[in-house]
Amino acid sequence: MEKILEQVLELLLFLVPVYFSNAIPVILGGGKPLDFGRKFKDGKRILGPGKTISGFAAGILGGTLAGGIVAISYKLPFFDSSMLQFFGAVLLSMGTMVGDTAGSFLKRRFGIGRGKRFFPDSLVFLIFALVFVFPAANQTLYEIWNLVFFFTLTVLLHPLTNAVANRIGLKNVPW
Ligand code: CTP
Ligand code: MG
Repeated sequence: MEKILEQVLELLLFLVPVYFSNAIPVILGGGKPLDFGRKFKDGKRILGPGKTISGFAAGILGGTLAGGIVAISYKLPFFDSSMLQFFGAVLLSMGTMVGDTAGSFLKRRFGIGRGKRFFPDSLVFLIFALVFVFPAANQTLYEIWNLVFFFTLTVLLHPLTNAVANRIGLKNVPW
């Protein structure tokens, strides 16, 4: 039982940079959009007004900071050293934000407006994060039950946190 709790804790700690980099732009984002207001050849915005330069940068920095604090406090088994774990936090944060941006690009191409619900939203940034962290992590990370945990938790948690952000007035739509 204790072993299982420890494993769950480790999986949660691994996700800290992903969830922090995803949430921080809601608070620290705003200002100049990443696509500078430009349109794609389909006539729709490349990314839309929900993706800003400050949000992108704050997400990477915040995720790295949060993951850095984890790295000095708890050595995760998915990395062979604390240094690699910190490097992993950088890659996870970058992957999350690139994936978040890619998700918006996809949404715009499908004609889904800014902030509108799009189920793969939650999956895209997680897939990017897990691909980005590959150079820093060891293969134990990609064991099937770890992946099942990451995807299940994220798909359940993402709409929930968005709803909470809406309730406390951080976001004006509940998703
Ligand atoms: N945000 C930001 N810059 C980013 C990502 C997010 O400023 N690179 C801020 C925006 O205020 C955004 C909010 O965080 O509205 C929530 O992020 P998200 O849900 O990813 O964006 P959506 O508004 O849903 O836009 P989209 O439809 O493009 O995903
Ligand atoms: Mg959204």
